[in-house]
Amino acid sequence: MIFNYNQNNEVVALLGAGSMGTAIVERIAANRTILLGDISEKALAAASEKLRFSGYAVETMKVDASDKNSIEAFAQKAASLGPVMYFINTAGASPHQTDPAHIINLDLIGSAYALDSFGKVMARGGAGILISSMTGYMLPAPLPQEVETALTVTESDKLAALDCLSDTAVPNSGYAYVLAKRANQLRVRKAAIDWGRRGARINTISPGIVVTPLAYDEFNAAGEGYQKMIEASPVQRVGNPAEIASAAEFLLSDKASFITGTDLLVDGGMIAAIKTGKYNIQLS
Ligand SMILES: NC(=O)c1ccc[n+]([C@@H]2O[C@H](COP(=O)([O-])OP(=O)(O)OC[C@H]3O[C@@H](n4cnc5c(N)ncnc54)[C@H](O)[C@@H]3O)[C@@H](O)[C@H]2O)c1
Repeated sequence: MIFNYNQNNEVVALLGAGSMGTAIVERIAANRTILLGDISEKALAAASEKLRFSGYAVETMKVDASDKNSIEAFAQKAASLGPVMYFINTAGASPHQTDPAHIINLDLIGSAYALDSFGKVMARGGAGILISSMTGYMLPAPLPQEVETALTVTESDKLAALDCLSDTAVPNSGYAYVLAKRANQLRVRKAAIDWGRRGARINTISPGIVVTPLAYDEFNAAGEGYQKMIEASPVQRVGNPAEIASAAEFLLSDKASFITGTDLLVDGGMIAAIKTGKYNIQLS
């Protein structure tokens, strides 16, 4: 039996077909085509099966979200399928999964390239979300203004040459992750200008601790520290991908039509606990 999945040809592009990403697209993809991009064939197969069995039309593409050409090809593929109404970028690696250079290349520079590439193909009325992290609010000291400005406006091709991203300036994966996620929050300010010319909006969401395979890698490595942090937060529990999807659904909808170039922190109050001294965190 052949189902008629969708009657228009609008496209929802998801880069990073993991837990949060699939939870988000489920909210917005009825009657549209989902294009999934991920470096992992396994992740693509699992996400496409789950979404197809839930009644969505799905295409897949192997993409390396740290590679400019691969990202550009993904954006072009999305545009070839129809008007690109939504772009969600959840491709990322966490501190305990990899080395600092890879985190900078993927979470920071790759995300910047993705904002550029989709900024050239978004349809009028479209919207995007880049998933940052609450860790973007956890820098050991505020970045100097000139560094914030450089991370915001430097052309993506020149980001790698910034002193603040050199091997010496980024000594470990924890700092690389925090810096990359702060850069994500800054970078959507620049992207909002380019996307705005096309009549599209772009924002970041900064999740707190959300149970996904990536978070499990962090729990397993960090152990008790994580537990204490969770207990100190106002909601005293971890979040789940559906709670991030609710925030994304709002930001992607017309109800958020005046919101672009900004960040929404969705962390169960964890940053409130840290900034008020209820929980002390040591980051190098
Ligand atoms: N889970 C949390 O607690 C948490 C908290 C804050 C922020 N985040 C961020 O949320 C985003 C989504 O993570 P998640 O928790 O849903 O994890 P996840 O592991 O379910 O999803 C991440 C996906 O990114 C893909 N990916 C990794 N490297 C890639 C590459 N080079 N090219 C293309 N795809 C690649 C992975 O294969 C995976 O499918 C990440 O950016 C992460 O840093 C997660």
